[in-house]
Amino acid sequence: MRVLSGIQPTGRFHWGNYFGAIRQYIALQHADEAYYFIANLHALTTVRDREVLRRNTQDAALDLLALGLDPAKATLFVQSDVPEVSELCWVLMTITSQGRLERCHAFKEKKSKGIAADMGLYTYPVLMAADILAYDSNVVPVGEDQVQHIEVARDLAKAFNHRYGEVFVVPEAKVMPDAARVPGTNGEKMSKSYNNTIEVFEEVKAARKKIMRIETDSRPMEQPKEPEGDHLYQLCSLFVDDAKRQTLATRYRTGGFGYGEIKKLLADEAEAFFAPARERRRELESHPDRVIEILTDGAGRARRKARQVLDRVQQACGLAYTNP
Ligand code: ADP
Ligand code: TRP
Repeated sequence: MRVLSGIQPTGRFHWGNYFGAIRQYIALQHADEAYYFIANLHALTTVRDREVLRRNTQDAALDLLALGLDPAKATLFVQSDVPEVSELCWVLMTITSQGRLERCHAFKEKKSKGIAADMGLYTYPVLMAADILAYDSNVVPVGEDQVQHIEVARDLAKAFNHRYGEVFVVPEAKVMPDAARVPGTNGEKMSKSYNNTIEVFEEVKAARKKIMRIETDSRPMEQPKEPEGDHLYQLCSLFVDDAKRQTLATRYRTGGFGYGEIKKLLADEAEAFFAPARERRRELESHPDRVIEILTDGAGRARRKARQVLDRVQQACGLAYTNP
């Protein structure tokens, strides 16, 4: 089984990205083969500053490695280091209908808000299909929001196979469980776009400040509260074991506590939870060459695989002319 997923380097990873996506990638790295990449070509549709994009790409690599992505188990690389994918994207574009892309939500949303969308955003799902199909991926772990894009990849694989013969593996989406929908500091879904995030490697003091400012209701301290549905409880639950979670739920139901106390618990637990990763990140930061080496090695492995698939594609549709 070959697992593949990508994550965009559009900013520093937050708790939502970790519990909703990254944690599962790391858990799946024990598959026969796992490919994870930093989707810098996709990020180019929103990050227009070269220094920011470079820094985000480096930060994404450091974060993923520090959080436990093991380059001995998984192939980690940067999307643009595999040019075969962009070539495959063109071939797939020739069998993609315009209507199919117009219905995709990232584009539709921008258009409905009257924001000018470029061809990068419009063809975003085709590049994503190329990312997936270029490595004969079987399973693609993603958040709920990406399922529509995996459907596009499946449909394109089937359409191509129908026209040219069995060239592509038809991938399956593996959706992250609902439980991992992480709320932000205002109770809405945590997202960069809502300005309600707490970053995984946020400076400890700054993280504490954000935690202490998490919005809560103003019910009096004595009043018993139902933990389910309370976003502070949900956040605590991400970091503590079952026994601690049950104790916390009982405290909510008994009442007589202040939210400040729970926030302090959250800050302590989150700090302890990410402490080993923080230490690994510090260590990696002082060896930037090692990170470049990992990414270069990953790109080499990924390119070899993508080349094989692209050769098949070129043969199948008559592009292999001078080199049949
Ligand atoms: P953002 O909404 O901050 O821009 P992205 O869209 O870049 O985050 O998300 C990258 C990955 O992290 C996706 O797979 C997405 O499903 C997951 N993710 C983002 N926010 C959350 C969240 N609050 N809860 C669970 N998963 C999330
Ligand atoms: N679009 C995905 C996201 O925003 C990132 C991505 C790019 C991806 N290519 C992919 C995910 C291929 C899975 C497979 O989260």
